[in-house]
Amino acid sequence: MPENSDLPELFNERLSWGGQLYRRGRQGQCHPVVMTTGHQRLVDSRCVSQDDPQVQMLFSEQWPAFITHDEDVKPFLDRRVEYFSDLDYYVLDDDGAVIAGAWCVPLRWDGSVRELPAGYTDLLKIAVEQREKQTVPDTLALMAAVVRPDLKRAGVASRAVALLKAEATSRGFQRMLAPVRPTLKCRYPLTPIQQYMRWRRSDGALLDPWLRTHERAGGKLLAPAPASQQFTGTITEWERWVDLPLPDSGRYVFPEGLDVLVVDADADHGAYVEPNVWVRHL
Ligand SMILES: CC(C)(COP(=O)(O)OP(=O)(O)OC[C@H]1O[C@@H](n2cnc3c(N)ncnc32)[C@H](O)[C@@H]1OP(=O)(O)O)[C@@H](O)C(=O)NCCC(=O)NCCS
Repeated sequence: MPENSDLPELFNERLSWGGQLYRRGRQGQCHPVVMTTGHQRLVDSRCVSQDDPQVQMLFSEQWPAFITHDEDVKPFLDRRVEYFSDLDYYVLDDDGAVIAGAWCVPLRWDGSVRELPAGYTDLLKIAVEQREKQTVPDTLALMAAVVRPDLKRAGVASRAVALLKAEATSRGFQRMLAPVRPTLKCRYPLTPIQQYMRWRRSDGALLDPWLRTHERAGGKLLAPAPASQQFTGTITEWERWVDLPLPDSGRYVFPEGLDVLVVDADADHGAYVEPNVWVRHL
């Protein structure tokens, strides 16, 4: 499990969520309701305190401990928060309770597979650099989403994706894109992502639940991102993150890993490359 002190920062890394969608903001005023569907509202994060126990609950026990250890992400985290806080969202239910969260970055992208970033980390880097060059974005990229643990499998994520699509359009983005972390891939870590992303059930729906949710919401699977993120650490660190002894050099299947962990005992180093799937919504 992630170190608890990292939990608020998880919002700066990977998540997903579900009612009213609000944009998030540390300072400034709460943005009014951005989008509403049924009993759920999308709001930005200025409406929701990071200290709110509901927010803490949203991010508790949702992410594997290694997820905060992509070293290439770290140089961009502060700037992501500084530049793009207005693209952090929460979904609230009828009573104003936080039921999901999602965070996005803006991107200039021509819509082609050729011009896709290499993956999640590259997308974050490009978004920050484009912002610093004052490149005008045309694409809303959904980086991650999280649903409150007690509300999983109740359709919250599906509604959240629908809210975000409407929000993207209303903010003038021509496209919406997501490097999706397929949630069931951890059960098939030996299968290449190119093959896994095509697996379907007998009813024709995608096997992976999170990819299925995106496709059902109108998303189109564009391409695999076999090296979307890379997580590295010493062997002691990996043993702590995955709660598993790693006695020798080799390839290990480990809990929550979408691929294998490669350990080099002589170098005291472990590396895990995480695959994602590019999904285009608009
Ligand atoms: C992934 C996540 C956002 C999905 O949210 P959700 O609100 O439970 O999704 P939905 O209720 O819309 O469910 C979509 C489908 O996935 C299925 N599903 C959800 N969780 C599942 C699980 N743990 N195992 C198998 N299927 C699951 C649902 O039954 C549903 O199936 P259906 O298409 O046959 O109806 C949520 O599980 C979550 O927050 N996970 C932790 C964070 C994360 O991994 N985010 C995604 C990567 S950024």
